[in-house]
Amino acid sequence: MQESALALLARAGICLNDGLNSRRLTLMDETQQYRFIFVKPADVPVYVEHGIADCGIVGRDVLLESEADLLLPLDLQISRCRIVVAAPDPQATTNVQGMIRVATKYAQIARAHFGARGIPVEIIQLSGSVELAPALGLADMIVDLVETGVTLKENGLTVVEEIAESTGRLVVNRASYQLKSDEVGRLFEALKSVVKW
Ligand code: PRP
Repeated sequence: MQESALALLARAGICLNDGLNSRRLTLMDETQQYRFIFVKPADVPVYVEHGIADCGIVGRDVLLESEADLLLPLDLQISRCRIVVAAPDPQATTNVQGMIRVATKYAQIARAHFGARGIPVEIIQLSGSVELAPALGLADMIVDLVETGVTLKENGLTVVEEIAESTGRLVVNRASYQLKSDEVGRLFEALKSVVKW
């Protein structure tokens, strides 16, 4: 996401000074108009909701999982991937005896998905390498992101169901949208003009 977000920003005329290879977590753009803050995906909504950042770029997957109150003005059409249910057995939903165990980084999305279908599941929260869980007996299925599908394939998993599509989104703090409307509007227009639909 970072690489494609920075490429999109560069096309919009917002370029970083040197420093990306350093361990500095805040950097100014070449014009000194924008301060970039580099945080983990799940923390982007937190920084923007609290107004530490006026705007953020984050995947829809993270937003579906987050409860942050943000404005979502623009689909940036970058980092397209799918949030899916995957399992070693494509018939796992009907074949598993008893409660289905679902390993995921996306507990809210998984709970909502199975809840809406009336399927009782035990959610096993992991922080990464979720594809390992079925092979090692920790879970019957996973809910995870798929981009190329290579990770699923190499771990003996197939897509059972697609839950949602995810792309990178521009998110904006509610107060910043009002109080810095010119600046936010400029950024919005600059990005909108380079989004590839
Ligand atoms: C993501 C996702 C899958 C993988 C899918 O993991 O959780 O594991 O990418 O990509 P593919 O379909 O192109 O193979 P990420 O790289 O974020 O690492 P993680 O598993 O540690 O979260």
